[in-house]
Amino acid sequence: MNWKIEDKEYKKEKIEFIGNKMCIGNGYFGYRGTLEEYGKEQLVACTVSEIFDDNGNGWREPVNVPNGLYTWVEYEEKKLSVLETKIEKHVQELHFDTGIHRRKTVFSTEDGQRITVEAERFASLEDIHLLVMRYQVTADKDLDIKIHTGIDDDIWNINGNHFKNKEYIEKDGVTGMICKTIENTANIAVAEKKQALSPEGKTENLKNGSVIHVNLKKSVPYVMEKYIAICKETDCTDVWEAAVNCCQQAEQKGYDRLKAKQKALWGKRYEKLGIEIEGDEEAEKAVLYSAYLLYSSAPEHTDRVAIPARGLSGQVYKGAMFWDTEIYMLPMFAFCDPKIARNLVMYRVKNLQGAYEKASEYGYEGAFYPWESQETGRDGCTHYNLTDIFTGRKMRTYFRDKQIHISADVVYGLWKYMNVTKDNSILKEGAAEVILECARFFWSYAYYKKGKEQYEFLDVTGADEYHERVNNDAYTNYMIRLTAKATLDVISYLKSKEPEMYKKVMDKLDYWEEEENIRDLYEKIYLPKPNDSLVIEQFDGYLKEEDLSIQELYSRIIKPNEYLGSPCGLAVNTQIIKQADVILLLSLLGSDFTDEVKEKNWSYYEPRTEHGSSLSTCIYALLAAQIGKTEWAYQYLMKAAQIDLTGDYKLYLGDLYIGGTHPAANGGTWMVLTQGFAGLEAEEDGVHFSPHLPEKWRKLKFRFNYGGSRYRVEITKDILKIIGEDAAKELRVTYMGNIYTCSAGSTLKIQMENREGK
Ligand code: BGC
Repeated sequence: MNWKIEDKEYKKEKIEFIGNKMCIGNGYFGYRGTLEEYGKEQLVACTVSEIFDDNGNGWREPVNVPNGLYTWVEYEEKKLSVLETKIEKHVQELHFDTGIHRRKTVFSTEDGQRITVEAERFASLEDIHLLVMRYQVTADKDLDIKIHTGIDDDIWNINGNHFKNKEYIEKDGVTGMICKTIENTANIAVAEKKQALSPEGKTENLKNGSVIHVNLKKSVPYVMEKYIAICKETDCTDVWEAAVNCCQQAEQKGYDRLKAKQKALWGKRYEKLGIEIEGDEEAEKAVLYSAYLLYSSAPEHTDRVAIPARGLSGQVYKGAMFWDTEIYMLPMFAFCDPKIARNLVMYRVKNLQGAYEKASEYGYEGAFYPWESQETGRDGCTHYNLTDIFTGRKMRTYFRDKQIHISADVVYGLWKYMNVTKDNSILKEGAAEVILECARFFWSYAYYKKGKEQYEFLDVTGADEYHERVNNDAYTNYMIRLTAKATLDVISYLKSKEPEMYKKVMDKLDYWEEEENIRDLYEKIYLPKPNDSLVIEQFDGYLKEEDLSIQELYSRIIKPNEYLGSPCGLAVNTQIIKQADVILLLSLLGSDFTDEVKEKNWSYYEPRTEHGSSLSTCIYALLAAQIGKTEWAYQYLMKAAQIDLTGDYKLYLGDLYIGGTHPAANGGTWMVLTQGFAGLEAEEDGVHFSPHLPEKWRKLKFRFNYGGSRYRVEITKDILKIIGEDAAKELRVTYMGNIYTCSAGSTLKIQMENREGK
């Protein structure tokens, strides 16, 4: 397979899109796929995780740090830049097998010279503080140029400057700056060490950079390497010292060794996934590229943050962590890289306090998790998220207040993690408290309807954000029941297996009586059931809303980008929904529903779903794959997997810019492949498979972990093979109601019946 994403033609209108598409990152920082000569107008951003700032100009957002890659060539007093110089040839590439970005541009100057600039960069996985670049200039004649390089501190931020001050420092050949954020005066150092390979140039030092005078000889390249360190005070005691050390160590190792290590480390990641699709290179490439993007933002080094809704591709969505993490991104890591999965779930555990505070702010008990969670675990979501493009007035949205399903999603994540990894140690580290307190929140929110003798959930917003403040959203209610069940299970587990801890937690949370409340909630919660046509109504009254086609709805649009959702968007009083809602429920809690119900709902909701969120198409693909609608599943898979390749996504919600990469769709893509087409699901004791491959796939291969052991899967049209790797433990496998065992270290081969899809 060709692991290269390529763009061969420079176009101004594509700068934003390519910036996302060719992003590199290592979970500590992300660097957009922009060119070295670009500045803030071209949305250059090196976005660091974990440092957020409120400068008083809008909302709290993550901080973009000064740009250590900033470099350009001056020839005859003119800047060579794709933005203004004539280009003879240009190519920009992302090698996603190694996370290496490359560009090569042949400039044609006014006096007819050809000057070629080539650059290569990567965000090191070996040392997450390190960004590395090799920059090379060649001309086809002897000529004099100047190379300007340094750290550009005039940077792009959605809400403006986030640094109170910057201190410029130089030590032992390392130059850079310490920046202090406005809100928390957090220190971040950005430093660089340059190394010129022959021929030497004469260097003139400036405040935050230098100009190198080079006499280029015909066809002899000038090569320079830059080691850039980014150190934040959340993980470095002395940020400047740490940055200097990082640059020096990198220089000692040298570019080629760092690059070799980078290749090896990315290779290990892909090995954990083990994905191969024989017979469909296009799908294989899109799926692996998706995994690349998701991995690039994954915090392997810490549980102080999870993965933001736009990864580390910029500041969109306040750099916040949404339910996207638990529902869409976590499964890939739980099954393939449990260490990262643990960080993701522990992030929520460590931030229980923020959830307590939010519940109490709204007058509830227990834990109400933030809709947009930042590093403090408090809600970054604002009340007025959007502006009405007709009136210019702010619109009150209720994402923060009413998407109570977030607490159930958090519990789902913890439950899923434990179910797959069997690592129950997180219960002792606080996960038990999170689960119990989320259930308590729902108990305090519930409305007991006398006469019907059932608990209802009123005035909520489900996954479909176009319909706010509805009653009994099906997804929400079912997920609340799961929370109640998880709570009862955790209590009984602790009681029998960890009696001391059981007592401690029940006392600490004063939960002795609450347990009965949660049991009552579990038994009497109202769960919308399939109607006579087997359709589950998304919320009370949904089926009475105007039923029209998406085309009809679009024909009513007055202004491009007008917001379709609450309070007064076009979709509000219709059955057009923004994203998978009932379909999400059916795909996550599949064992509660028959295939017939799934099929009927898929067919009902599919034409009524606008896919106005990148969280949608992967779920339509997932359910379709699970029920063997493989051709539909395939179409939706490709939409989800290629979203960041094609740029087929909304850039604006009303006037709100929402561009960036789409980690939820990336994670969803992995789910479609493994949990959809292979039908993998973790059970209490073992795994379940139910494969349906798309027509053109000859073989699907992937790896997964279960209970601490690793397995390899190979599926053809008629054979399901599971191979126990690394002295894997014995595994119980269910297929079509039959039970098999994959013994330690051996291969289980199951002859399948005809699994042709529909
Ligand atoms: C979706 C939410 C999602 C958020 C961040 C919104 O457009 O409707 O479900 O959590 O984007 O990805």
